[in-house]
Formats: sequence, C-alpha cells, structure tokens
Amino acid sequence: MTDYEMIKLALEAREMAYTPYSKHKVGAALLCQDGTVFKGCNIENAGYTPTNCAERTAVFKAVSEGYKNFTSIAIVGGMEHLKALPVCAPCGVCRQVLREFVDPQTFRVILAKVDDVTDLGKLNEDMVHIKVMTLAELLPLGFGPENLTL
Ligand code: THU
Repeated sequence: MTDYEMIKLALEAREMAYTPYSKHKVGAALLCQDGTVFKGCNIENAGYTPTNCAERTAVFKAVSEGYKNFTSIAIVGGMEHLKALPVCAPCGVCRQVLREFVDPQTFRVILAKVDDVTDLGKLNEDMVHIKVMTLAELLPLGFGPENLTL
C-alpha cells in the first residue's frame, strides 16, 4: 500500500463525514500490519461534545474488530466547500488514542495537501502533496501504557 493509495482511501472515507455543525470534513485510513485498512470519518452530534473525529472512528472500528497492530494512518480534512484541502493534522485527543496502540517512533502519520477534491475519480498523484511524520514528532514525550507497568 503506497502513501498515495492511503490518502485516496482517506479521501473516500471523508465523503462519509457527518458534519452538519462544523462543515469540516475529515477522513482517515488506518493501515494494519497484515494490510487490512480501516476507514473512518468524523461524526458530529447536536450535543457537540459527543463528536468523534475521523481518526478515532478508524481506530475504534479496528480495535472492535480485533485489530491492534497499526503501521500508519492517512488523514485528510478541510471545510466542505473547499476545492483544495490544506494539511489536516490530528487533534491532541486522537494523537493520544493512537499512542495507546503504536510505537510512536515508527508509526507513520501520512498527511496531505490535495489540489482538487471535487471529483475523486479524476485524482492523480500530482495533485496530492504528501507529508509524513512519526507519532513521536506529533506527540513528543507522550504518556503511554508502559507508564502504568510496575
Ligand atoms: N476533526 C477530525 O475529525 N479530526 C481532526 O484531526 C481534527 C478535527 C473533526 C472534529 C469535528 O467534527 C470537526 O473536525 C471540527 O473540529
């Protein structure tokens, strides 16, 4: 699975975002060690705080299906009216949720600026500008499960 393919899956996931309040649509694609990919979108709520980010939707789908070994996540997001998407980095809560299951030094977070999302059928590699970071770069000195072992 290439980073570009991962971004394409994240863009597909973004199409399902339920965002009547913020109009900010996010999609994520989470790659497991065996090649399985779980997609997620953000799901908002009239109560606002129950809103779930795209990244966490993907993680919770995976864990609830018995998958806990992840190698990377692709994330795309931006306001629904935008033709071009800026880089959308994961929020702090999602960084912490990912931290629970991955090695921050090796886990790859694939971000991208996308020139035109109006017709995903016409997407090509030249339109996608990828930036890869590790989770450790996004969440330095993180608190994880090892901190709770004796
Ligand atoms: N959102 C995500 O899904 N992921 C992020 O990384 C940033 C924020 C969502 C939550 C909410 O539905 C909307 O974007 C605006 O915050």
